[in-house]
Amino acid sequence: MRVVLTDRLSHTAEFERHLKTAAPTAEFRRWPLADPSWDYDLLVSWILPDDLVSLPPSLKAIFCFGAGSDQLLADPRIPMNMPIARLEDAGQADQMLNYVLHVAFAWLQNDNAYRVAQRDTTWQRPPTKVRSRDAMRVTVLGLGPLGQRVARGLAEANFKAVAWSRSTRVVPGVETHAGWDALPAAAKNADLVVNLLPLQTETRNILNARLFSGLRSGAYLVNLGRGEHLNEDDLLQALETGTIDCAWLDVFREEPLPAQHPFWLHRKIRITPHMAGVPTAAGTSASIARVIEALKRGLPLPNALR
Ligand code: GLV
Repeated sequence: MRVVLTDRLSHTAEFERHLKTAAPTAEFRRWPLADPSWDYDLLVSWILPDDLVSLPPSLKAIFCFGAGSDQLLADPRIPMNMPIARLEDAGQADQMLNYVLHVAFAWLQNDNAYRVAQRDTTWQRPPTKVRSRDAMRVTVLGLGPLGQRVARGLAEANFKAVAWSRSTRVVPGVETHAGWDALPAAAKNADLVVNLLPLQTETRNILNARLFSGLRSGAYLVNLGRGEHLNEDDLLQALETGTIDCAWLDVFREEPLPAQHPFWLHRKIRITPHMAGVPTAAGTSASIARVIEALKRGLPLPNALR
């Protein structure tokens, strides 16, 4: 099996070591190919490189080097019938959980109020309001592998974990809601909303004024999905009125976030550069190896998107 890796994150000695162990008989090469005529069976990519003009006839499948696949599904260079399998990496999911726990604890500590006061060099002691984990309602939007891990981890850490997905799912310890009609109930009185949905036509702009209006005043928001999930004007308005006290954003409509974007200097916005869940060498290599094995045996691809 011949495999091409396009993502620079995978061009490390650590990845090479893990790939060799996980799939010892496969041959891995990095993009750009030194020999452009090399025919390969599997392409491992998060976004196809600009200089990849066309896919070789030998290609059997694409492995999405990330949890979100909208960027591949929308790429006109990929024929509709090309199988695509998606990364499943417990290490990536754990990083997402850590990010969300970090924000949940920040809410518990009323962190943003103190950060703003510090910037204003103000010794400010707001009326003490003891916040407890089991009374903190955290709503996770999306129950794919990442959303499930995050919702379960929140429940295990004693937060009041709630989750919403389009189709019914059961996650131990988590209050789950399914279907569009149930979205307001899932978001109602949330102290923290975490978006881990895939980007699709129906989920575009799902983080909007209507959703924000149901949250408990002073809620925090975490967007780990895609920038297009968020209506930016509605967020700025919700931050202005105090419906949302702090937004942690890892993804943006334009990345890198342009220097003049109002989010950069906003007192109630925390920015991270699309790093909340980086694919790990061990987890990714194992996931790629499972796809290679399925291709070799002619079996359905694990985590196939199509
Ligand atoms: C990152 O954005 C991913 O899709 O995993």
